[in-house]
Amino acid sequence: MKPIMKANPQSGARAIREPRVLYPVATPKTRPIDRQVVLKSGAWITLRHAVAADAAELVQMHLRLSPLSRYHRYLRPHSPGLAEMEELCRLARGIGEAFVAESDDPEKHIVGLIYYIRDSYPRDHQAEFGVTVEDGFQGGGMGRAMLDHMVEHARFNGVHLMEANVLPQNKKMLHLLDTCGRPLHRSLSPEFITVTMEIGADADDEAQLMCLLADAAASPLPTAQSALCG
Ligand SMILES: CC(C)(COP(=O)(O)OP(=O)(O)OC[C@H]1O[C@@H](n2cnc3c(N)ncnc32)[C@H](O)[C@@H]1OP(=O)(O)O)[C@@H](O)C(=O)NCCC(=O)NCCS
Repeated sequence: MKPIMKANPQSGARAIREPRVLYPVATPKTRPIDRQVVLKSGAWITLRHAVAADAAELVQMHLRLSPLSRYHRYLRPHSPGLAEMEELCRLARGIGEAFVAESDDPEKHIVGLIYYIRDSYPRDHQAEFGVTVEDGFQGGGMGRAMLDHMVEHARFNGVHLMEANVLPQNKKMLHLLDTCGRPLHRSLSPEFITVTMEIGADADDEAQLMCLLADAAASPLPTAQSALCG
């Protein structure tokens, strides 16, 4: 059993094609750092660890969500209260991590939340996560940026497998999960799909190796084929 709540109880004129990370993260050998990202709309957001002082604003962010977003996130009409958010903001790294996305306006509103909760020992290399982007910021690359950010931190913390529960109609989230890390499997329950992805450093290496071997197999040059495929 997990020690605390589970992650899943169940444009602007100057459009930018891809969100850009302005301050690149550290190398995998060092602890990843906060990052600033430019969304497709041109708006900036800062991704950072949640702190206890964020709890009240996170409650407000959830109250601003559309019923559909809330339902997609919690698979029921749930809006977390202060105690739940405080607990999340105080997560110890051995249990999980929570990150917020802060807007660039003078009030620095919190417009996104992502967190993961590890399974207990000996399965603590596995975690479950949940992500929420405020409606007005959806579709601009923020969900992907937050997912990448969390995965980088989780990997540094020794997490290799990430799991999320997603409603079958949540195509955007399913697409993000299919294109982040290495999708391992999907299991169906009557209400939602549980997607498991591998995020260990090996996941990238393996994906690169598979591409290389596929290229080599398709290559017209016999030397390339024998060099790479034996
Ligand atoms: C799901 C959610 C986190 C995604 O964040 P977002 O900022 O809207 O997503 P992004 O803009 O980063 O990326 C969306 C991706 O889905 C793609 N997409 C959009 N609509 C799609 C659809 N109908 N089918 C398939 N892919 C779709 C986009 O093209 C983009 O992919 P790309 O980066 O390869 O171009 C956000 O919409 C959200 O918070 N929803 C409510 C809560 C929720 O559903 N949480 C997930 C369950 S834990």
